[in-house]
Amino acid sequence: MSRYQDEYRRSLADPAAFWAEQAQHLHWDRRWDAVLDESAAPLYRWFAGARFNTCYNALDRHVEAGRGEQAALIYDSPVTGTIRSYSYRELRDAVARFAGALRANGVNAGDRVVIYMPMVPEAAIAMLACARIGAIHSVVFGGFAAPELAKRIDDAQPVLVVSASCGIELGRTIAYKPLLDQAIALSAHKPARCIILQRPQVAAELTAGRDLDWSDAVASAQPADCVPVAATDPLYVLYTSGTTGKPKGVVRDHGGHAVALHYSMRAVYDARPGEVFWAASDVGWVVGHSYIVYAPLLLGCTTVMYEGKPVGTPDAGAFWRVISQHRVRTFFTAPTAFRAIKKEDPRGEQLKRYDITCLRALFLAGERSDPDTIGWAQDMLKVPVVDHWWQTELGWPAIANCLGIEPMPVKPGSATVPVPGFDLQALDADGTPMAPGAIGNLALKLPLPPGTLLTMWNNDQGYREHYLARYPGYYLTGDAGYIDEDGYAWIMSRIDDIINVAGHRLSTGAMEEVLAGHPDVAECAVIGIADAMKGQLPLGLVVLKAGVERPHADIEKELVARVREQIGAVAAFKTALIVPRLPKTRSGKVLRATMRAIADGRPYTVPATIDDPRILDEIAAVLRS
Ligand code: COA
Ligand code: AMP
Repeated sequence: MSRYQDEYRRSLADPAAFWAEQAQHLHWDRRWDAVLDESAAPLYRWFAGARFNTCYNALDRHVEAGRGEQAALIYDSPVTGTIRSYSYRELRDAVARFAGALRANGVNAGDRVVIYMPMVPEAAIAMLACARIGAIHSVVFGGFAAPELAKRIDDAQPVLVVSASCGIELGRTIAYKPLLDQAIALSAHKPARCIILQRPQVAAELTAGRDLDWSDAVASAQPADCVPVAATDPLYVLYTSGTTGKPKGVVRDHGGHAVALHYSMRAVYDARPGEVFWAASDVGWVVGHSYIVYAPLLLGCTTVMYEGKPVGTPDAGAFWRVISQHRVRTFFTAPTAFRAIKKEDPRGEQLKRYDITCLRALFLAGERSDPDTIGWAQDMLKVPVVDHWWQTELGWPAIANCLGIEPMPVKPGSATVPVPGFDLQALDADGTPMAPGAIGNLALKLPLPPGTLLTMWNNDQGYREHYLARYPGYYLTGDAGYIDEDGYAWIMSRIDDIINVAGHRLSTGAMEEVLAGHPDVAECAVIGIADAMKGQLPLGLVVLKAGVERPHADIEKELVARVREQIGAVAAFKTALIVPRLPKTRSGKVLRATMRAIADGRPYTVPATIDDPRILDEIAAVLRS
């Protein structure tokens, strides 16, 4: 039996023994009573009865073990011309002080703190400070507009919000404070305090009685010690797109999360303490939570926090510069970033300027890695390129080529094999596992391993309905795919209306809600169409109310602006087209898949249940024009 097969089988045959062994690498303030608590199944808990602190394990533990002077975090910001390194000791002290500031401003264990920040070290400091005192952070990606932030504030009900005066995007500053003020004006819940990091590029106006300058808050604060919490207590809530406009609050615990991430660093990424690990993502996404902040620090690596883009900051050599300058060993990003580099520098001229022999592996996730991109990356970098699959809900990779266990032959287009702990199956409509090679709904047999979602924030019922109800005893991933005769998993598509734009997960349902709110719109559909660079792009098809006679171009512009104002620039919603009617089945279901095929120029069969097939020609004519 291969090393991978042996480890995979052990993880499923006796999960409690397997994860107890992995847990030995971390510090527990009190040992668990049960590794796996099944008493409330299908809601499982890992390390029940244990007391644990994630921040202690990520920072203090390493300082006490002699790693204090090693770099913990390197902030590299081409957009501000800054590079700053924090040793483990410095980061621990900065986090302890900010934790004291949070506490002085009324934040206690179990309270929520919303963090709406750009890619600055203070974002990671705020996250770790929450973890230190047992508060629950909820980071909101900076590219979301005020109404999206307001939804998250209303759901998480934070005592305090941490934000900054601005973010910086390719040559322009984005003032965050007006967006925060607008969000708080929109939300029913009002946080008592906001702590604002003033950046030199933009000065934020502070609201008297509510807002505090970060530096003032920290100057007067007493450093706070780590507070051991129940290992099963929430560490964070991270909102992700669902099929409607209401985002889902994924809840992660302290103990299981740390054990799983620590394990993944070795098993999946083959990383070792002291090495430099770089995930070029954003702390607003799960990749940023897991592989910019928590996992590298839990293992004792140096993490890189990069405030820039793959191209334009200043050129397509930006990634190679960072890898070479900071001696990055493991690099993680989304395929779209590589497509952006390839478009600007197809022959890799920029690469010749840098020595990247330190690099050992590239990991890609967030969207499908097309074989072209994988091939190009392999040719350029001459290191293993690993496509791996996971989701916000899962917190760490569920399908991967586990380089730290046993590298497997690559099949381009497949994310390779299930990671130990994840019992992956492709199921048919009745829940029967499909034969090898046959496409089904990808599901994971319960219990999920540690580090995956516990539930949805304040919404156990929603968790059961969205994820567990379709196949009793399984978690529904929302992706369709198949497992081949060698056990390799192939992800084919989503089974819902979620789209993936430049590695960002977005809800077409949320965009439809925004379009439908326009006074001239009778009905609409948003579909994801293929895009060579971003993977997918949203396209809105809109039917106007009878009697609306305004110029179509004006309405289309208003619709585009509306999505940007209500969801955010990150939606990349640039095209709304007015169509005479939407194609539907006789029961009234909009035929989105057929419209997608028409838009992408793929062959399609006219569904037998279509109400009026002539509409498809009308849609095709509008798309062609
Ligand atoms: N704050 C404010 N606005 C933001 C933002 C942020 N944090 N992040 C993105 N935006 C804006 C962008 O400026 C852009 O605005 P525009 O419409 O005015 O141009 C819009 O949101 C869309 O952003 P994006 O989809 O990122 O496109 P881009 O053209 O700026 O960059 C890539 C394209 C491929 C370079 C970029 O998407 C990228 O690096 N992707 C990597 C994906 C990733 O990290 N995924 C996380 C999972 S691994
Ligand atoms: P997110 O929750 O933002 O990480 O998005 C998760 C979704 O992105 C998955 O359900 C997939 O649809 C898609 N995805 C992530 N990684 C991959 C991958 N390696 N291959 C194909 N799809 C992926």
